[in-house]
Amino acid sequence: MTPSFYRGRRLRRTPALRDLIRETEIRPQDLIQPYFVVETSDSSFAQPIASMPGQYQFSLDRLEEQVARSVDAGLRAVILFGIPAHKDPMGTQAYADTGIVQEAVRRLKTRFPDLVVITDVCMCEFTSHGHCGILEDNYVQNDVTLNYLAKTALSHARAGADMVAPSDMMDGRIQAIRMILDENGFKELPIMSYAVKSASSFYGPFRDAAESAPAFGDRKSYQMDPANLRQAMCEAEADLEEGADIIMVKPALPYLDVLRRIRDGFNVPTAAYQVSGEYSMVKAGAQLGWIDEQKIVMESLTSIKRAGADLILTYFAEDVLTWLA
Ligand code: PBG
Repeated sequence: MTPSFYRGRRLRRTPALRDLIRETEIRPQDLIQPYFVVETSDSSFAQPIASMPGQYQFSLDRLEEQVARSVDAGLRAVILFGIPAHKDPMGTQAYADTGIVQEAVRRLKTRFPDLVVITDVCMCEFTSHGHCGILEDNYVQNDVTLNYLAKTALSHARAGADMVAPSDMMDGRIQAIRMILDENGFKELPIMSYAVKSASSFYGPFRDAAESAPAFGDRKSYQMDPANLRQAMCEAEADLEEGADIIMVKPALPYLDVLRRIRDGFNVPTAAYQVSGEYSMVKAGAQLGWIDEQKIVMESLTSIKRAGADLILTYFAEDVLTWLA
């Protein structure tokens, strides 16, 4: 008798058979580890971030040590967030040539020339009010902010960054950054745009880590409404027209439908950012003994890849490398 139904189990019988037909794989070179670097005179500073167990604010020296360990474990790319010693309304330390991010880039590129060093380009860690741009009448001014973002990106490029990643969500910032980079001899420097970035509650722990919570209000006048999928397509399209090389979707796991639409809609590499809140929830569940951290992380990252991410920014990158080894 001919079988009348599909027997999917035939190919699930043994581990080798399952491995043979696996469609999605996490590769070490897909992962980008975020780091928080603090401007401090205490060179051995390594402050654990309470809401993100396993993550730290590092001094330059401690960052270098940590990255050395990760590179040994196979890490290929990092993204840097800076916490300056002094904040002011204009976020001066974001674009200072001696700023903490610029120093960190120089330090890492000198020691690890092959490491891909990406910088987050934003004002919120550097402004005293914690908003991602320049304020007037307590409202973030779009076009004024563009000059500051462009200056910041250029200072990162001059320090030796391999890629800049604007996360501010001002309109026109990819164009402004592309122009200033091109005019200053950085035509070949790629831009990874946080193009599809929602005004998400999943960033809560990050704002502790980066000390960047807005002093008043929220970010809803510049970050996207999580409810909007068509708008996500508009944002990505605009950023590509302005010169973005990689489009990022953020957060990741709760936005897999957005990720898939972006991946199918545009022929450029797609990145996903598994953000702080996604990380902290897994950590909390694991600490309570309610979930298996490693399995949950690998399943989540596999889902993010399956939904279309070519690269993944994740605080679990270092751990995943050791698990894969
Ligand atoms: C800066 C920035 C944020 C994140 C990345 N870049 C915070 C925010 O927009 O409030 C969040 C990353 C995370 O939650 O892990 N604008």
